[in-house]
Amino acid sequence: MPVRTRLEAWVDHTNALLAVENASVLMQMAPSAIRGLFLRRGRSGEPTKMKASHRVHFDFEYPADDPGMRRLYEKAKRLQWNSSTDLPWETDVDPMNPEVPLMGREFVDWNSLANRGVVFNKDERQDFLWRVTSWMLSQFLHGEQGALMASAQVTEATPIFDGKYYGATQVMDEARHVEVFSRYLDEKLELRYEINDNLFTIIDGLMTDSRWDIKFLGMQILVEGLALGAFSTMYKMTSEPLLKELLKRVIQDEARHVNFGLLTLRPLYNGGLTEKERIEREDWAFEVVVLMRNRFLAHELYEEAFAHRMSRRDWNSFVDQMPGMSLFRRVMFERLVPNLRAIGLLTPRVMERYERMGFGEFVHMPASDKLTEADLLGSPSAA
Ligand SMILES: [Fe+2]
Ligand SMILES: [Fe+2]
Repeated sequence: MPVRTRLEAWVDHTNALLAVENASVLMQMAPSAIRGLFLRRGRSGEPTKMKASHRVHFDFEYPADDPGMRRLYEKAKRLQWNSSTDLPWETDVDPMNPEVPLMGREFVDWNSLANRGVVFNKDERQDFLWRVTSWMLSQFLHGEQGALMASAQVTEATPIFDGKYYGATQVMDEARHVEVFSRYLDEKLELRYEINDNLFTIIDGLMTDSRWDIKFLGMQILVEGLALGAFSTMYKMTSEPLLKELLKRVIQDEARHVNFGLLTLRPLYNGGLTEKERIEREDWAFEVVVLMRNRFLAHELYEEAFAHRMSRRDWNSFVDQMPGMSLFRRVMFERLVPNLRAIGLLTPRVMERYERMGFGEFVHMPASDKLTEADLLGSPSAA
């Protein structure tokens, strides 16, 4: 990577870390941020090892301790599906075919790109949409690998025995999700991007944190909530039939996963924490939300094809204002913010910060356990 591009990235990352208000949250995030943002461990081309430090919770009395969780477990067993035989893999996918677009052309503001000196013809636009879609699906794939490992960890760590039964079904779900996204990218789009440094940082933070409830909060509420919104948005936007069916199946699984987090954390965060512990979690969740809101700007795509054509800052504002990305963001946080309220982390102390981010209108929307399948697969609210 050219030195200028590398320096711009470092300045960008440093500014993001300096913006973290709570010093103890900054200290907690720093080691993962160094590995993810500065050392780019996720992009070394080598397998990555992370050191887990949580305690595994055994119970040799096998208590039936949570009827709601047991019902979710029964539902999850009933709704398992076979990724090899239940999806129409025989579908012919041509990313360059404008008749069956992966994403509509309105996803990108082509004038905004032209204003930055990049003018594309028809084929180049189609090529760009293929790359953007591959970039997003690649991040879904990497997020799913994080979810696979995290669900295995929360299954080990949860003190709720019925939660262990349910957690095991989620591990299977996430393995299936890794399989279908990986197969789709390799066989159908023939293009896969490396993991985004910010996503790596979040996953690294969750894997190495010893506190079991932080793993639930990070993966089951924040990352899963965001994923649910992202998958629903892409499901509505794409016309490609295999991708649509694949996303529909994944969304049906993901809705259960967020509920796992809600069932676990709602009672714990409503009376089971000291004031200091609660404040720490409120601030930690907010900083992860900020990271997710501001930092997923397709820099892997920028470094591949645009670093010599515009500055990183210019690229950031182009991607930030892309109509498709705005819609993604809206639906993602429409899913995520009400879940934070549902577990009790949107206290008056932090509410103003969420309002400043423009999320105030999402606060009173229904949490994920109140959404029906029609809500998840239906039309998004107006952007
Ligand atoms: Fe998943
Ligand atoms: Fe999931």
